[in-house]
Amino acid sequence: MSQGVAAARLRGAGARFNDRIALDGIDLTVHPGERVALLGPSGAGKSTLLRLLNGSLAPTTGTVEVLGTDLGGLSASQLRSVQRRIGTISQRLDLVDQVRVLHNVNAGRLGDWSTGRALLALTFPRADPVVVSALDRVGLGFALHERTERLSGGERQRVAIARLLVQCPELVLADEPVSSLDPSRAAEVLQLLRTASPNQTLVVSLHQPELARRHCTRIIGLQHGRIVLDRAVADVNDGHLDELYALR
Ligand SMILES: Nc1ncnc2c1ncn2[C@@H]1O[C@H](COP(=O)(O)OP(=O)(O)OP(=O)(O)O)[C@@H](O)[C@H]1O
Ligand SMILES: [Mg+2]
Repeated sequence: MSQGVAAARLRGAGARFNDRIALDGIDLTVHPGERVALLGPSGAGKSTLLRLLNGSLAPTTGTVEVLGTDLGGLSASQLRSVQRRIGTISQRLDLVDQVRVLHNVNAGRLGDWSTGRALLALTFPRADPVVVSALDRVGLGFALHERTERLSGGERQRVAIARLLVQCPELVLADEPVSSLDPSRAAEVLQLLRTASPNQTLVVSLHQPELARRHCTRIIGLQHGRIVLDRAVADVNDGHLDELYALR
């Protein structure tokens, strides 16, 4: 395991929405190069944990450190500069439906561009080689000029992956990125997510334990906002998974 600066470190991190506790006392360190699968029943806290990690939600208790920076107490612009180094695919994908696919992919670079250049790219879209190559990598080369709203659910998921590829993030966070994909596309997309960051650090929530086993190095199981399983993939057996998904 590579040492040095952790990709992410949570200490006693909790998240509460009014009187609902979504996450409770999460202690977790993710090392560079680890591929962590977040598993657990619906409502267990997987999306909330990913939101803490990308700084879109502040913890109500504890601390969250990402890429060597404590996210607590940062100014909005300091937070944005850490977020530029994090590639996120949210459960909602956050695509703009009314524009062409290439604009959504280009959005991965907007953080690095001046406002003027970003506006220019929106007004005069070019088939930029970086965008074309990212779309080719996700098998959507044909869709460059398509309106995003015309694409299928699986194609939209792949547009979000292409946007992440052009961002060149240091850490990839993905919330159910393969939920609408057929099995072979799902395997392909997970492979792409692995290679989207230089040291291949990935935290991904999944509802398919077999994909977690095949593509990740470590499995974190959540139940009712707490970590109930944290093991290297090789040490996870069917009993652990049955226990994790047992309704109670
Ligand atoms: N913005 C919010 N306002 C109120 N409650 C919320 C909010 N976001 C999450 N919750 C609650 O926090 C808990 C954890 O939700 P979360 O979305 O993290 O679960 P999840 O494990 O991602 O579930 P799923 O597998 O269905 O995506 C749930 O009880 C949910 O209702
Ligand atoms: Mg979720």
